[in-house]
Amino acid sequence: MDKILIRGNGQLNGTIPISGAKNAALPLMIASMLTSDPVTLENMPRLADVEALQSILSNHGVDYRVKGKRPGDTSMTGRRIEFQASEIVDTTAPYDLVRKMRASFWVIGPLLARCGVARVSLPGGCAIGTRPIDLFIESLEALGVEIDIEAGYVNAKAPKGGLQGGHYTFPKVSVGATHVMLMAASLANGTTVIENAAREPECVDVANCLNAMGAKISGHGTSTITIEGVTSLHGATHEVLPDRIETGTFAACVAMAGGDVLLKNAQGALLQNALDVLELTGTGVDQVNDGIRIHRTSGDIQPIDFSTDPFPGFPTDLQAQYMALVTRAKGVSHVTETIFENRFMHVQELARLGANIAIDGQTATVTGVERLSGAQVMATDLRASMSLIIAGLVADGETEVSRVYHLDRGFELLEDKLSAVGADIERVTGG
Ligand code: EPZ
Repeated sequence: MDKILIRGNGQLNGTIPISGAKNAALPLMIASMLTSDPVTLENMPRLADVEALQSILSNHGVDYRVKGKRPGDTSMTGRRIEFQASEIVDTTAPYDLVRKMRASFWVIGPLLARCGVARVSLPGGCAIGTRPIDLFIESLEALGVEIDIEAGYVNAKAPKGGLQGGHYTFPKVSVGATHVMLMAASLANGTTVIENAAREPECVDVANCLNAMGAKISGHGTSTITIEGVTSLHGATHEVLPDRIETGTFAACVAMAGGDVLLKNAQGALLQNALDVLELTGTGVDQVNDGIRIHRTSGDIQPIDFSTDPFPGFPTDLQAQYMALVTRAKGVSHVTETIFENRFMHVQELARLGANIAIDGQTATVTGVERLSGAQVMATDLRASMSLIIAGLVADGETEVSRVYHLDRGFELLEDKLSAVGADIERVTGG
């Protein structure tokens, strides 16, 4: 299995291009199932999760084709991929496929909208928490769907005549359940209103793509979304928005190592809260024409207190990376995780590098240390893995990160991007 070796070697300087967002690319691919026409997604990141979902969707009859480069495209530019679900050939998403990727559960939305039935395996728990599906069930029931759960499968059936528009208030914000409602309600009879909907930029991106496909969605980006059902959707071309989590992650890298880096194509509005928190650590954040400039050339990292929250709050997907940053702060920081109950697995690994972190319930108290030292550590989930790389950027000696398949799920060309700005990082394959 591959490993990443990283040796702390000073500041980072230069430019890192930001890729298309994984967490928009995945639901956009699933949304392509809602029409028999081709849907072309541009700026698609090359990630293991995208490839895995491609093969899962082929099981339902979705063909995909990588299209040629556009003028000006470079080796770092995202790809254009055309998806076409001319016919849905299978309405079952089996356990073997869904357990590989939780997001593939979301096919329940297009399957119900287009075929009226879906049999989708329960996704099961995962490293960051139990992750139930009650909100998916309740919200789909509001569209008239009958659901029963049997032998590890959700069997779902739309009413005769198709999904019915309805009204649903989410008791808790769910990104995935909001994606599914956007997709399902777009082809329902009548109007659907969802309240306490997720406002995450990736949900907005999906709604924008659906509108380009002929859907009538308004209010996306706010807590109340209205979806007027239409009888069919058509093909469209849509560019995936820049990855705010990759942006925040590289910003934390620069804040940790010091230096001056332009995160090209990054959009500040997608992660304003996280950028504000970063500034409190003493890091410069300048939004410029072609991205965001992150710089810290002198001075200590200041301690910070932050708590994860649904958008526009601080993203849970950046919690581990920012925690790694403050392991070297001049003082004590408090990090509170409110979205997932088990998202502190990186703490033990950071401790192996010399970090001083104590967990009490949902809050981690991080007492900054003068130095970290390289060690063998293990990636536990994809964002947590990046926290180890961030610590490795300043640790004395060599940090060896194993189980890097987690990183490949969500960070495109990671070693290339970091070594281009001066990091001493390499991948060792096999072994
Ligand atoms: C999405 O997961 C992201 N995944 C996650 O990113 C991200 O951490 C999360 O949103 C929160 O921002 C993708 O977009 C592919 P949720 P999702 O439904 O949709 C609870 C990464 O690293 N809940 O918003 O699965 C749930 O347990 C990944 O890229 C219920 O209780 O998250 C959690 O506590 C990790 N019942 C909270 O809601 C439900 O039916 C938010 O989960 C559904 C969710």
